[in-house]
Amino acid sequence: MQHKKYKFSTAATDFYFGGSFSQLKTIIDQKATVLLTDENVFNAHSKKFKGWRTIVIKAGEAYKIQSTVDDIIDQLIDLETDRKTTLVGIGGGVITDIAGYVAAVYMRGLKFGFIPTSLLALVDASVGGKNGIDVGMYKNMVGVIRQPSFILHDISLLKSLPDKEWINGFAEIIKHACIKDAAMFRELEANDLSVYQKKPKLIAALLQRNAQLKAKVVQEDEFETSVRRLLNFGHTLGHAIENQYALMHGHAVAIGMTYACHISAQLSGFKQTDRVVKVLEQYGLPTYMSFDRQLAFDLLKMDKKREKKEMNYVLLEKVGKGVVKSIPLVQLEKIIQALPK
Ligand code: GLY
Repeated sequence: MQHKKYKFSTAATDFYFGGSFSQLKTIIDQKATVLLTDENVFNAHSKKFKGWRTIVIKAGEAYKIQSTVDDIIDQLIDLETDRKTTLVGIGGGVITDIAGYVAAVYMRGLKFGFIPTSLLALVDASVGGKNGIDVGMYKNMVGVIRQPSFILHDISLLKSLPDKEWINGFAEIIKHACIKDAAMFRELEANDLSVYQKKPKLIAALLQRNAQLKAKVVQEDEFETSVRRLLNFGHTLGHAIENQYALMHGHAVAIGMTYACHISAQLSGFKQTDRVVKVLEQYGLPTYMSFDRQLAFDLLKMDKKREKKEMNYVLLEKVGKGVVKSIPLVQLEKIIQALPK
């Protein structure tokens, strides 16, 4: 197991790469820990949970809401947990988000860590400290920025991951390549999903590279005033259509990235849309979609990246170089209306 520590402004996160669930005992005190997971992960790996106090919730984005948080808090009270308890989220992005959020508010803050079990959680959701819940159609409308104490990678857990979840995670990997890492983009162009699924060392290295890329960006700008904004590439439009059309997060982001490439062609001289679209398709992700442009714009206006009458939109100058442009809402509305179907 390889250990790397990332110091953030308020806390540090220990990353354990190439580890396994069974090593959790060596990282934290089992008696002072509660695990949080969902029914799918629990049923797929029930033996691993033996001996751990575990709260199991229903799986899916539909449960990333305040009433689930209330249920978890009731169970933490029933378990007579105290401020020395560590809460460990074991699951995909919904679980890491809820675990981090509950840990921030319960008794004004518990320590927390993650064993991410999906590709998306390994490269994105577990890293960065933004954790929260959805409110109606609005994704992640309520939440906190607070760093986990540790993140443990156990890629053997991916064996039970359905193909659609592999595809879902590749959207965030392609996003990282687009905004920051042209060499990784070339690696992705040279491979496909089945290559990574067959080669544990190759996927482990790709997951570590992505988690570290994100951790470095967050380290530079934890509270998202500059470079961290780049991580929102594909997410402004993506979030506006995700819950509305019940899309998987990676699908929504892939569609958001496709259209962000078109907007980049208009506003930042980007000339490689075809290359990005090809790589998204190569990993089984959707690109163009016939969605209600007006409804998407109305939801998008409420995005957290809006500042008064302008939206901070992430565009590309070239593959590997993302930029943030402030676009007046009146101009953005016209651009969204005119996007190709
Ligand atoms: N938890 C995901 C992030 O901070 O971006």
